[in-house]
Amino acid sequence: MSEKIAIVGSGLIGRSWAVLFARGGYRVVLYDVKEELMTQAMEVVQAQLHSLHESNLLLGRDPAECYTRVSTSTFLSSAVEGALLLQECVPEDVELKRKVFSELDTLVSDTTILSSSTSCIVPSKFTETLSHRSNCIVSHPVNPPHYCPAVEIIPAPWTTDLAKDKTISIMKQIGMKPVVAKKECDGFILNRLQYAVLQESWRLVEDGVCDPQDIDTVMTSGLGLRWSFIGPFQTIHLNAPEGVTDYAERYSDGIVRVSKQFGEPRHMTGETLEKVREYVEGEVPMDKHKENLQWRDGVLKQLAVFKQSIPDK
Ligand code: NAI
Repeated sequence: MSEKIAIVGSGLIGRSWAVLFARGGYRVVLYDVKEELMTQAMEVVQAQLHSLHESNLLLGRDPAECYTRVSTSTFLSSAVEGALLLQECVPEDVELKRKVFSELDTLVSDTTILSSSTSCIVPSKFTETLSHRSNCIVSHPVNPPHYCPAVEIIPAPWTTDLAKDKTISIMKQIGMKPVVAKKECDGFILNRLQYAVLQESWRLVEDGVCDPQDIDTVMTSGLGLRWSFIGPFQTIHLNAPEGVTDYAERYSDGIVRVSKQFGEPRHMTGETLEKVREYVEGEVPMDKHKENLQWRDGVLKQLAVFKQSIPDK
């Protein structure tokens, strides 16, 4: 029988994890404090498995067979019993994470990995006093995880290499692309990059250099196109005839000069917020939010399919 993964919290992210672990060949047990949410989650999991299969994104597995390996439990103790790894997906609140991890600590075996989906709380903030703290780690996915395979792995200072390596290996097995932080860092990696871009976008609009739509055009028709398959470092390497050292010699002084002007972070309030709100609500009206989310996920799905066909260099 295949090994078991427990998902604690069956909301948006918990459901996606269930799909991914089932795709990787694991048995999955979903737990939530609200029983009706688990029923909804099972419907979503079934639909997502079929949708991934239609797009050839189910790692060659049969969706119906994957679905038979997913179940729910109304008891936390039976959900986590014998689990290889449990993936916590409760709301982003440090007190709640502390409470849930303390409870899980009393239920898990000495070998179960306790993995949190938290977007921005470093693991030492909610695992320090636990007797199983050496098995605690963060595995932060990108939404929607079934089309965005990067996952940030953040060990606590006391996480063992064994727990870290096991987590990385499980993530690879289910088709994810783990990125491992060498130490805890506020904001992790993804959000620090995202915040840097957001802050500079805000400044450019607030200081009257351009309009909000121009930022989106620069990203979607410029920078973002390259970044979706080679990232900023390979981009600069290819942008200079003699590679990255050549690029650094040519452009580093200019980058430092401009970067020194970035200044203090800006609060996202006031007239600039109004300007940004007017623009995004014109493009993505609030009464069509659900349809636009489906549209976004549909495009991400097409990109995921396309990226599978990108030839190696
Ligand atoms: P959500 O609100 O959709 O789901 C949370 C679920 O946890 C709900 O079903 C709720 O009933 C359940 N829950 C609450 N207390 C519980 C408890 N004590 N035991 C078991 N279940 C409990 O939240 P979402 O968006 O799925 O977020 C979950 C985690 O994933 C958060 O830490 C969030 O920061 C992280 N995350 C979220 C992303 C997103 O885009 N929504 C992206 C990446 C990570």
